Amino acid sequence: MADLRNVRKDFPILSRYPELVYLDSACTSLKPNQVIDAEMSYYREYGACGSRSSHFLGRRTNEKVEAAKENVAKFVNADPKGLIWTKNTSEAMNLVANAFDFSKRRKVVTTAMEHHSVLLPFINLRDQGKIDLEVIPCDPDGEIPLERWESAIDKETALVVCHSWNNTTGTGRDIRAISRIAHDEGALVCIDGAQGVPHHKADQKSEGVDFLAFSGHKMLGPTGIGVLTVRPDLLPKLGNFVVGGGTISNMRIEKPQYQLDTSRFEAGVQHYSGMFGLAAACDYLRNLGMDNIAHHEKMLAKPMREAIEASGAVVYGPKQTDSHGALFSFNFKGAKPQDVALMLDKLNIAVRGGFFCAQPGMEALGANEGAIRASAYLYTSIEDIRKFDDAMRKAGALYS
Ligand SMILES: Cc1ncc(COP(=O)(O)O)c(C=O)c1O
Repeated sequence: MADLRNVRKDFPILSRYPELVYLDSACTSLKPNQVIDAEMSYYREYGACGSRSSHFLGRRTNEKVEAAKENVAKFVNADPKGLIWTKNTSEAMNLVANAFDFSKRRKVVTTAMEHHSVLLPFINLRDQGKIDLEVIPCDPDGEIPLERWESAIDKETALVVCHSWNNTTGTGRDIRAISRIAHDEGALVCIDGAQGVPHHKADQKSEGVDFLAFSGHKMLGPTGIGVLTVRPDLLPKLGNFVVGGGTISNMRIEKPQYQLDTSRFEAGVQHYSGMFGLAAACDYLRNLGMDNIAHHEKMLAKPMREAIEASGAVVYGPKQTDSHGALFSFNFKGAKPQDVALMLDKLNIAVRGGFFCAQPGMEALGANEGAIRASAYLYTSIEDIRKFDDAMRKAGALYS
C-alpha cells in the first residue's frame, strides 16, 4: 500500500507555508511538483500548436496531447474517442445542455443538491422554453431515496443530471442504480464528477454513465483544463457548441462541414500545458492508488467530524460516517460563516465560508446564510486534523 505520509514533500505550497492547514481542497486542490513540471514542460520543450502544424514541434505536441487524452480517459475508464477537452466542469455541463438533442424528449431530471454549474445551464434552457425541468427535492440531510428517482424518471425523460459526490455534505450518490433507472426508461445520464473523480475510483463504462464531466484543478491538475467524456456513439447526435478554428473539416460559407470526432467541440488553440499537467496528475493519483486515497480520507473523516461536533458546531448532511468523504459543512448557531472562516484563517486553517455555489442545496439543508466547509485531500495529515481540532475548540469558545 502506498504511504501517503510521504506525499507532502511533493507540494510546494506546503513547504512554503509549513504552518498552513489547507482544508479547502473541494474548492481547488494543491498541485504537486510533478504536475507543475509537466505543465511547464509544454512551454520549455514543446511550445507549438497541436493537431494543425506539421513541423516537428507541432507533431511532438500533438503526440503528447493524444497520449494525454488516452491517459485521462483511462483514468475514468472512458473511451478516449469520446474525450472532449473543456475549461472545467462548468463548461462541460454547458456543452451537454446546449448540444443535446431535446427534439424527441424534452424532460431533464436533476436534484436540488446540484452545484450551480449543473443547475444553471438547464434552468437557462427551461427559461427559453426548450426543455421541461424536474428538480427532485432532497431530505433534510440532503439524501434522495432511490424511489424518488424512480418516480421522477419516466418515458418523457431525455436526460438525468446529477453529481457523483456532493460538495456540501461529502457523501456519494449511487450512480449505478440511478443509471439503471434512467436507462430502463430510455433516458441518458450525465454525471458531474467534479468532487467524485478526484477522490474515488470512477469507471464510466461499468457505471453506465453516458456523459461524465470533471475538472483538472480539483484533482491536483492545473486550472483551466477540464474534461467531458461522451459515449462515442452519442457524438454524432450532439449539436454544435462553441465553433471556430479546428472544428470544421471543410469551410464553406454556405454550409460548413464540421469534424465528425471530438475536435468539433474544441474550438481554437487549446490549453496544451493544462492537458500535460492533467495527465501528470492522473499518473500521480494512479501511482498512489485511488483506493488508498479514499481509505486515507475515510480515516480523516471521523476525527474531522468529532472536532466539529466537539466545538459545538452543527454538521449538515447524513449522520453516519462510514460512507463519508473528508468534507464537512457546518455552522455555529448565530455566527456568520465568513466571520468563523476568517477566525480560522488567523489560526492558519484555510476553510471556505459561503454557499459553495450550491445555494438551493444549502437552503434545503437549513443553512440559509451559507456555512463553513472543511475539505481534506490526500496531502492532509492527521496532524493537520489535530490543529483543526484545536482551532475549532477556540472558535467554539467564541461562537457556540
Ligand atoms: C460538485 C461540483 N460540481 C461542479 C463544480 C464546478 O467546477 P468548476 O468550477 O471547476 O467548473 C464544482 C466546483 O466546486 C463542484 O464542487
